[in-house]
Amino acid sequence: MDPRRNRFLASLSGAAVDRPPVWLMRQAGRYLPGYREVRKAHGFWDVCHTPELSTRVALEPLERYPLDAAIVFSDILTVPEALGLGVTFGPGEGPRLERTLRSQSDLAAWKVEGVVSRLGFVSNAVKHLATTLNGSHGILGFSGAPFTLFAYAVEGGGSDDFATARTLLHRDPVLAEKALATLADVSAEYLEAQFQAGADVVQIFDTWGGLLDRADYVKFCVPAIRRITDPLRAKGRKVLLFVRGGAHLMPVLGETGADGFSLDWRTDWREARQRFPRSILQGNLDPLLLMAGNDVVRAKTRDLLKTIAEADGSKLSIVNLGHGIHKDTPPDAVAAMVSEVTGHA
Ligand code: CP3
Repeated sequence: MDPRRNRFLASLSGAAVDRPPVWLMRQAGRYLPGYREVRKAHGFWDVCHTPELSTRVALEPLERYPLDAAIVFSDILTVPEALGLGVTFGPGEGPRLERTLRSQSDLAAWKVEGVVSRLGFVSNAVKHLATTLNGSHGILGFSGAPFTLFAYAVEGGGSDDFATARTLLHRDPVLAEKALATLADVSAEYLEAQFQAGADVVQIFDTWGGLLDRADYVKFCVPAIRRITDPLRAKGRKVLLFVRGGAHLMPVLGETGADGFSLDWRTDWREARQRFPRSILQGNLDPLLLMAGNDVVRAKTRDLLKTIAEADGSKLSIVNLGHGIHKDTPPDAVAAMVSEVTGHA
């Protein structure tokens, strides 16, 4: 097995490593010229649905940087799209959902039957990526967390505070719990299909979970995430959980049953390691650091490596950003960060 995939798998299992592996959330995307080229000729969903295009886009960061893992090219909003909510990405704006979730009848209209087979294009993309890589790199599959998908479904698009979604959660908790359970059960099957297609690990993106207080996270999100982690863990699968803005939720994240936590940039690595001595930790440089010049990128990456070496002896640790890479990131800043981890010039 290639040393990169080997190192990535070793970190997931807690084995000794020569250095922590590195990959970046949203490493394939608009900051890369090759991706922008592909998008000139193809719609976003067409890229996701065409294994050759999705693999081409997923490989671009691996060709540019000595990363240890690839993430399948897809989106968290595949699930609402497959449920029939009509998801589009307009030029220069966030996602739009044609049909929102506001009432019991909206939920009843979700096309749950056959949803996982309609998501088969994502497993096909994982399979194509795995065949192409042939063991050279680790492979991540992913899904959105139930609450984050609920938030988009209720709001009908992006938002700073997801006010409509949070209001609905409080106003009609029974509807919210039903929707969260449905999203969770679909996600559990969807992620298992990605494992069967060749993913080594999956990450659940709870991009908006940090908007909730701890009690509501325990009431609504933890049980929904457990509906995903329980069946996957029973099969020996490994699951990482990223909760953006989740520092205040650290005391309860252990209850989610995740094998590891992707830390946002505001979460203290040492505190997280004290709390979770046997979990995988990943993160957590501020993505905006990559726009501040390469000297500071290198210095901050070295600081993180030192923390990781001191706190964990580099075991069970993966270097990453604390959120997805920003679209205006200069590609050579990524080169600076990654080479600081790998020791290549
Ligand atoms: O390398 C990779 O990680 C690419 C795969 C990937 C995408 N989206 C591709 C994408 C992943 C892992 C995601 C996750 C995702 N999608 C999240 C969670 C991570 C996070 O950033 O918090 C969220 C919230 C979304 C929802 C979403 N999809 C938004 C808000 C947008 C619009 C703009 C943007 O990029 O943030 C998308 C579209 C999208 N998904 C693009 C890409 C490359 C841009 C589409 C385009 O080409 O215009």
